[in-house]
Amino acid sequence: MAAVLPQQSIGGDGPRVARVALGCMGLSGTWDPAEVGPEHRRRAIAAFEAALDAGITLFDHADIYGGGSCEELFKDCLQAVPGSRERIIIATKGGIRNGNFNLTATYLTECVERSLRRMAIDYIDLYQVHRPDPLTHPAETAGVLNGLLRRGLIRAVGVSNYYPEQVRALQRYLDVPIRSNQIEISLARLDPIYEGLDGGDGTLDQCMAQGMTPLAWSPLGAGILLGSTPHPAGPERGAALRAALAEHAQRYGATPGQIALAWLLAHPAGIIPLVGSANPAHIREAAGAAAISLSREDWYALWVTAWGRDLP
Ligand SMILES: NC(=O)c1ccc[n+]([C@@H]2O[C@H](COP(=O)([O-])OP(=O)(O)OC[C@H]3O[C@@H](n4cnc5c(N)ncnc54)[C@H](OP(=O)(O)O)[C@@H]3O)[C@@H](O)[C@H]2O)c1
Repeated sequence: MAAVLPQQSIGGDGPRVARVALGCMGLSGTWDPAEVGPEHRRRAIAAFEAALDAGITLFDHADIYGGGSCEELFKDCLQAVPGSRERIIIATKGGIRNGNFNLTATYLTECVERSLRRMAIDYIDLYQVHRPDPLTHPAETAGVLNGLLRRGLIRAVGVSNYYPEQVRALQRYLDVPIRSNQIEISLARLDPIYEGLDGGDGTLDQCMAQGMTPLAWSPLGAGILLGSTPHPAGPERGAALRAALAEHAQRYGATPGQIALAWLLAHPAGIIPLVGSANPAHIREAAGAAAISLSREDWYALWVTAWGRDLP
């Protein structure tokens, strides 16, 4: 019997999902599709099953993950658990090609059709444009997304790595509301939180103003918060942050990773962390963060430590 996590909608009345999601960038464990073998398949299916058991219902892909192998292996995951397709929300992304961003009508159509074929599914629940493409007018991108929605190949539209003005430009030409913005946000990257402090870009404020859900990529700082990757602001900031996470973890009876995720979950914009792991124990641990409610004082204390100076 799968656990049931707290749920929320993606963007107003969009699809309902558990508050912690699985990022599938590392699902195949390789960026070279030629390397994929039975062991990679077994590992991916074990991760998928662990996520389902833990109550996770949103799975985030991109066509480029694993050079296409993550979406390919997801087909095997879906087949390994009969009935799972209908129980979950599949998000994927397209629009990156050989070091270019490409949101033209022709290329995005190819991306969507390829993703559907790889995963052997009839529709994508949430289709996200991976990064803004300065060389394509948003009217063209919106036009093709409108057509894909009408054909029933995609059911909702999200963006990724969009600044507020880019969201507004795309929204102007879209027939449906943009449901989500997938952004890099964590205690290791604070920029989207607060317009007015240096680095603030107003992204979370726009999500709340427009009823969009922020999907947090690298919610554990891609390892920075747990110490496997150096902190870009230097070893002292990294050590201070890890010490603060450990101290809060002890008080809440949680792990440092769970506290880092709970910090995102506490924000009123309804951030959904996309945890990047294919390790069943780590996936179960991440799902456990949904049960933790950080106090206002603790949330601010972690923010100040992460920022490295006092609030104004
Ligand atoms: N839109 C974009 O441009 C974009 C860019 C990057 C990523 N993403 C999305 O965001 C997702 C997550 O990104 P990410 O993988 O960079 O970030 P992450 O979740 O911040 O970090 C993943 C790293 O944390 C480790 N980890 C997870 N749980 C752990 C635990 N309990 N203890 C110790 N280590 C733990 C993982 O190791 P193990 O593998 O050993 O668990 C992995 O090395 C991706 O899968 C993808 O869906 C989107």
